[in-house]
Order: sequence, then structure tokens, then C-alpha cells
Amino acid sequence: MNQSPSPYSRILVTGAAGQLGRDICRQLNIRLPEVEVVAASRKELDLTSEREIHEVISTLQPGMVINCAAYTAVDAAEDHLADAELINTKAPGWIGSACRKIGARVIHISTDYVFEGNAPSPRTENDETAPLNIYGKTKLAGEQELLRAQPESLILRSSWLYAAHGHNFVQTMLRLGREKDSLRVVDDQISSPTYTLDLANAIISILTTENWTSGIFHFSNAGETSWCRFAMEIMRFSELDCKIIPTTTKEFGAKASRPLYSKLDCTKLKRVFHIESRHWQEALVECLAEIKKKDLNHG
Ligand SMILES: NC(=O)c1ccc[n+]([C@@H]2O[C@H](COP(=O)([O-])OP(=O)(O)OC[C@H]3O[C@@H](n4cnc5c(N)ncnc54)[C@H](OP(=O)(O)O)[C@@H]3O)[C@@H](O)[C@H]2O)c1
Repeated sequence: MNQSPSPYSRILVTGAAGQLGRDICRQLNIRLPEVEVVAASRKELDLTSEREIHEVISTLQPGMVINCAAYTAVDAAEDHLADAELINTKAPGWIGSACRKIGARVIHISTDYVFEGNAPSPRTENDETAPLNIYGKTKLAGEQELLRAQPESLILRSSWLYAAHGHNFVQTMLRLGREKDSLRVVDDQISSPTYTLDLANAIISILTTENWTSGIFHFSNAGETSWCRFAMEIMRFSELDCKIIPTTTKEFGAKASRPLYSKLDCTKLKRVFHIESRHWQEALVECLAEIKKKDLNHG
């Protein structure tokens, strides 16, 4: 990988208290100690305010903004269109225009849920988008708003994020796996679980690469699986005696529709930035070890 020191002396991270935001801030501090990292959670920068976004960005004058904030509650978004729109669509556009004014670049995170999920092969950046739910629709519109406001932006779509902290599928399965003897988990939705630490490291590799390239890219851990097989691996690696029973999307009956096959093709990222991802099972083992370490430390 052709990596050099960061060309940015100050980087603003929005949504810094979220799963990805926390890992990005931590990895930036470890890997790029020369960079001043401004970690802004909702308390420091509320993205529902266009005025606040412009004020904070023009005061701080960061060279780069990494936007990790989003309305991520996929089912709740179905009933809260206005909130989801504000954070997922309008805010990226406002961040883009504030950055364009001061010549700053933006890295923004998007989702595999921009795809309909009916195609049989991994989706590339050029494939047609057709989101099935409000979350996906507002995220797709956010990509467009951002690129319109600041063409010097890079959008990284990822899938099925989990971290060693925060609320996510892995943490939920560990909790339920300790409480229950069996669990029904959807087996007909396929994509790639992605460890936020790996996504954070990919983002840092992008921003330290000598040749900046804007546009849309895909990043996820390698391989593909269903939620059900993902849950089985979480139980197996954690030695939890909870039986995972396959069910269907229809039987499960979540409020929001979800794509059945939304694996992302990540070859563009490899070609342009020489970034490769490890297999999702290897990343999962590392995340589970990290969670175990934290649990032991907290008695
Ligand atoms: N989670 C996934 O499976 C997944 C999959 C693909 C892509 N993505 C994308 O990856 C990115 C990171 O996701 P994540 O999983 O790290 O999400 P997350 O853990 O839900 O974090 C999102 C953060 O955004 C913050 N936020 C929400 N509204 C805000 C506002 N008005 N002003 C400022 N901050 C606000 C939240 O703050 P509060 O804690 O105060 O609400 C939260 O800390 C997002 O763009 C998401 O769309 C996620």
C-alpha cells in the first residue's frame, strides 16, 4: 500500500460517538499522531442545524471532514421520514457546501441498502440503485446532495457494520445467546458483515494515499453470509449454547423491507487505493476477542 503521512493537519469527525466514529477517532490517534482529530458527537455538532454545521466548519478550518453520523435505525426510519431525511440527506449536503467554501474534502459513509438486492452478483459502484426502504432512500439522496455540494468528496458504501462497542447485531446475539436456548434468525438476506475497525483503517489508508480520488467506492469485509449463518458463527466462536433456527424475511416480518442480496463488489477500491479486506470470519474472531477483553476488564 502506497501510504504517506496525512496531508491534513486537522480532521473533523462527525458522529464521533457512534460505532464507526469511535473506531475512526481511535485509529486516527494511533496511526496519525501528527494529526489534530476533532471528535464531534451530536453534543458538539448537531447535524440538524445548517447554521451550526457552517459555523463549526468555518471556525475549525479542517482539511478533511469524515462524516460518520447518520439516522441508522432502519425500521424506525419508516415512521420518521423527516428526521431520517434531515440527517441522512440534508446534513451531507450542508457539510459538503461548508467544506467547499474552505477547500476541505469530505469522506462520507453510505450503505448497501441503496440497492434493491434482486441481482445475483456483488454490486459495483456503477450498478443501478433502487433502495427499498426510507433509510436507503435517504442515504442515496445524501450521496447525491454531497457530491453536488462538494464534488471533491469520497463516498464509501459499506454493509452490516458491527463493533466491539455500541448497539449492533453481534452485541445483540451475545446478549440473547446468554439468555435464550434458541433464536430464530433470518436466513434469506445475504451480504458481508463488516467490522468497523477494518472500515476505519480503510478510511485512514484512503486519506493518506498520495493521489486523492473522489467519487463512490465500496468497502466491506470479504466473503458473504446470511444473518442466520452470521449468528451461528457468533455462537460457535463464543461457545454459547444457543440453537440458531433459520427463518425467512417474510416470517420475521420487520417493518422496513430489506435487500435480499446486497453484497458489495470492492474491486474498485482495490484497483484505485490498493486496499484489500480480510474475510468477515477473521474480523469477527478479532472483534469477539476484543469484547471478551473488555468484559474481563470490567469484571
Ligand atoms: N450500522 C450498519 O449496519 C451500517 C451499514 C452500512 C452503512 N452504515 C453507515 O455507516 C455510518 C456509520 O454507522 P454506525 O453503524 O457507526 O452508526 P451509529 O453507531 O448509529 O452512529 C451514528 C451516530 O450518528 C449520530 N447522530 C445521529 N443524529 C445526529 C445528529 N442530528 N447530529 C449529530 N450526530 C447525530 C448518532 O448520535 P446519537 O448516538 O446521539 O444518536 C450516532 O452516534 C453511517 O453513515 C451509516 O449509515 C451503517
